[in-house]
Amino acid sequence: MGVTTSFEPAKDIPSLEGKVILVTGGNAGLGKQTITYLAAHSPARIYLAARTASKASAAIADIRAAVPSACEIIHLPLDLTSFSSIAAAAQTFKARESRLDILINNAGVMACPYSLTKEGYEIQFGTNHMGHALLTKLLLPVLLETAAQDGADVRIVNITSMGHMMAPSGGILWDQAALEKQNTWRRYGQSKLANILFTRELAARYPQITSVSIHPGVIITDLYQSLRQNFFLKMGMWVYALLFPVLPGHFKDTRGGALNQTWAATVGKEKLQNGGFYKPVGVLAQGSTYGRDMGLAKKLWEWTEAELEKYGY
Ligand SMILES: NC(=O)c1ccc[n+]([C@@H]2O[C@H](COP(=O)([O-])OP(=O)(O)OC[C@H]3O[C@@H](n4cnc5c(N)ncnc54)[C@H](OP(=O)(O)O)[C@@H]3O)[C@@H](O)[C@H]2O)c1
Repeated sequence: MGVTTSFEPAKDIPSLEGKVILVTGGNAGLGKQTITYLAAHSPARIYLAARTASKASAAIADIRAAVPSACEIIHLPLDLTSFSSIAAAAQTFKARESRLDILINNAGVMACPYSLTKEGYEIQFGTNHMGHALLTKLLLPVLLETAAQDGADVRIVNITSMGHMMAPSGGILWDQAALEKQNTWRRYGQSKLANILFTRELAARYPQITSVSIHPGVIITDLYQSLRQNFFLKMGMWVYALLFPVLPGHFKDTRGGALNQTWAATVGKEKLQNGGFYKPVGVLAQGSTYGRDMGLAKKLWEWTEAELEKYGY
């Protein structure tokens, strides 16, 4: 464990001139704030990947109001619960761009009732892991082409959570029907453990790209929507709102919550351990025993590949 890195986006983000950036879940919460931070530092373009067009255009208007000098920000339609939507998003991106410097796989859902994605994966595992795994796979050719250019510095930042500690016994339950018997937090834990393992294997297979996973901290965003349905949890969140200023790793709002992923996307690459898992801000962390299990990482990679291949990807 290290000491929290001081990071002030306005002064610490270097010039991003010429870089093309893609952020999933950019229409709300941490993704939107991350784009707000990055847009002020002159990248060529930022793709705000999101499934709800009206929320995406409202987010772009808000970001422009906050950062009048913002670079071009383009809504890329993307629904991570559908492989065909992901493939269309990757195709649209590749038709427009010949480089991708920073991919931030940020979108996510948490504590949802059991349901399945279009291809039949548990909704949290399917959205948070399978969807991003396919998107990353389809964007890898352009990421690798960019990495091969002189002076390139290509990053993949995957947003995980300390919630990965809640993964079920064994780490990953492959049988999606068996996941119905696990409570929603264990299912979320599995999806976030998968984000850490996927990142470790990505770094091992593609060392020319810097891939890290990060826990953003705890920040009340729309992610906590399902908790607000329950009176006691709602009261708990109210009490929490009074306590958060004294809790380490807890942030009042998305300005604090987006720091770690923005740091990971822009800090000098010599400061990052490829495949590493970081707590806020910039603290290399161990995570759970499952999260360090390279045998499990390899198994998850191979299982995911086999699943994607079943659908022709
Ligand atoms: N907030 C925290 O305390 C916390 C803690 C640990 C980890 N995280 C992680 O941080 C990331 C961002 O969370 P947040 O707090 O910013 O939550 P948020 O405000 O709820 O934002 C989540 C984003 O993901 C998008 N999304 C959800 N399902 C999607 C799908 N099927 N296709 C495309 N986009 C989808 C949402 O889009 P829509 O608006 O269209 O639904 C939204 O833009 C997540 O990966 C989460 O697990 C957050």
